[in-house]
Amino acid sequence: MRIDILTLFPGLFESPFQISIIKRAVEKRLCEIHLHDIRDYSTDKHKSVDDYAFGGGAGMVMMIQPIEALILKLKAERNYDEIIYMTPDAKVFTQKEANRLSMSQNLMILCGHYKGVDQRIRDHYITHEISIGDYVLTGGELAAAVVVDSVVRLIPGVLSDETSALTDSHQDGLLSPPVYTRPANYKGWEVPGILLSGNEKKINEWRENQSMEITRKIRPDLFDK
Ligand code: ADE
Repeated sequence: MRIDILTLFPGLFESPFQISIIKRAVEKRLCEIHLHDIRDYSTDKHKSVDDYAFGGGAGMVMMIQPIEALILKLKAERNYDEIIYMTPDAKVFTQKEANRLSMSQNLMILCGHYKGVDQRIRDHYITHEISIGDYVLTGGELAAAVVVDSVVRLIPGVLSDETSALTDSHQDGLLSPPVYTRPANYKGWEVPGILLSGNEKKINEWRENQSMEITRKIRPDLFDK
């Protein structure tokens, strides 16, 4: 998979993609992540990328010209499965969406800043919009990093144990059961005995029951679905 990220602040992505699973996915060539600085595509003599909103109101709006130049250059090089715009004004991202996007060959992700991008970019180039939650960040970069992380870990071969993504929270619509490791008894805090029994069927039943119980308590909205 190839992911192109269009941003005014490429530096914001440096550490999240240079650590652990995403770093290894890139090293194993299971995924390529390309960062593009929108400002490099401005034809303005001061390299401006934003301007006041027509109609007034607080906050600047990202201008069409540099974003369009960059999108057109990338689109001329390859076909994109989706051209995504990160914005709080969209449907909230879910595991189902992550699963769908993980089947893509090429993804483009545009990060908004200030008051966002000129609506005409959204109308003419964006094929999909994503919010990561009902709160507002200073820009789309951290949200894009969240989406990239959740998608890249689903690419076959990225996680060492292929089944581990299948048993994630949310993969079956439920939250995960509790997990424990050694020692079995720490200061008298004991691991549930069933997990030490070696009886796989009973252990799976216990985990399913725990998942249901926890989901019912913490996320009744998911449980009702
Ligand atoms: N940009 C600012 N806030 C955001 C959010 N919640 N999701 C996606 N992009 C954003």
